[in-house]
Amino acid sequence: MASSSILYTLALLNCILQVHGRSCPVVECWFVHDKPGRGGGFPAGMNQDKCLMYVRTSPDSGRAESQQKPPADIDPTRIYHVIDPSASLCSLSFLSPEGSVKKPQCELNPFLPRPSIVKWAAPLTSSAQSPTYLQADWLSASLQGLDGQLALSNVMRAAKATNEPSVILSVFSTSTLVRSRLGVPVVLDCGFWMDSSSPISEQGFSVEWRYQFRGAGKLVVAYDAKSDRLAETSEEGAELDISALHQTRNASLLLEEAQVRHTGTYICTVYVPYLLAQVAIDLEIEEPPSLSISPSPVPISFPGQTLTVQCEASGFTPLSLELLWEFVGADGTVQLLGEGGVSGHRQASDGTFSQSSRLRLDLGKLDLGRGGEVTCVAVHPGGNRRTSTTLNIIGVSGPSIEDSMAMVAVALGLYGLIRLCSWMFSTSGSIDSDSKEKKDK
Ligand SMILES: *[C@@H]1O[C@H](CO)[C@@H](O)[C@H](O)[C@H]1NC(C)=O
Repeated sequence: MASSSILYTLALLNCILQVHGRSCPVVECWFVHDKPGRGGGFPAGMNQDKCLMYVRTSPDSGRAESQQKPPADIDPTRIYHVIDPSASLCSLSFLSPEGSVKKPQCELNPFLPRPSIVKWAAPLTSSAQSPTYLQADWLSASLQGLDGQLALSNVMRAAKATNEPSVILSVFSTSTLVRSRLGVPVVLDCGFWMDSSSPISEQGFSVEWRYQFRGAGKLVVAYDAKSDRLAETSEEGAELDISALHQTRNASLLLEEAQVRHTGTYICTVYVPYLLAQVAIDLEIEEPPSLSISPSPVPISFPGQTLTVQCEASGFTPLSLELLWEFVGADGTVQLLGEGGVSGHRQASDGTFSQSSRLRLDLGKLDLGRGGEVTCVAVHPGGNRRTSTTLNIIGVSGPSIEDSMAMVAVALGLYGLIRLCSWMFSTSGSIDSDSKEKKDK
């Protein structure tokens, strides 16, 4: 009995150690800050210093890493011992793979806490806030994992000149590039964590999604959790799951139905009093074209004839399309016939594009045997598409069964015609002889 309870305690301790003393990757980062200008005034540009973040999830877990000698090329004042109870900095996507040129990105900046002025976040700082808490060294970190798997932005607070910041607010997204077909629901992932022991966290939070595309921007949705109020926006079909937001801090944006106009960058910003952090997510709407080919089938053709076949691609986005032609002979051999004459593009009211290609087939110059399949191939980022039409060429040496049948048909037709003519001649002859007979009478 006693031993089992000891075992249980040990297991529990082990579990606690694993959660709290979790070892995290050492994050390599750039500390980016204004270069002090001469004589005060405007900054004289930006400085970048290499820095390191040793991360642990609790202040109780030992600073084992501090026994290691820090790399010589890093200024000791740029080595940070970060406490991140959310463990979001511990993701393996922020670890530089051994010997790889590609590295996760990390930037550290000085952060200035200040009240927010946007309508949906201003109420957060309406009551007087203990300013002593704000008197500290504030930093913000922005990280981007390899292959855009994870983006994270946080705000950290360190007692002055300690280089031991703690994460207070962290905003993250598991996918910074989302590709979607048209007409389907889209989820843009965003979640956050805030330190519940911080005096700031009692004041509530706000979430905002903004949209940006080619320099223009607009508000998509904004929610003030303190007063449980959504801001008025003109955007339709874009929602937050408010209960998930409160329960699991899931701030994902739900778009009911992907449309061409949704292509762009979405910025998820979380506000807590005096602080904010944000991540950006790119949404690309990709819809491959629908193809139609005409004429289909191609009328029976003869050697020496020139034909035109047209392929119409419609309903696609983005405008990045290549149309190609292929011919597959009866024996399976493939001939590439080039691009044909590609038309300019048109844009439909839903924002999708259409474009066509005309292919001239000079059967006098091309050797297409007795025919086969003429295929239009569309190469598009949303996927490749192909469609075919059948081409029959008759009268090529060495008649095929179809040719023979056609010839028999023609022969039968001719035979019928000859019979008809001879019948007509013979009857007209008999009329003549009739009239002769009448005259004779
Ligand atoms: C957040 O909510 C969205 C939509 O409801 C869901 O797809 C996503 O998996 C959620 N994220 C997390 C981390 O639970």
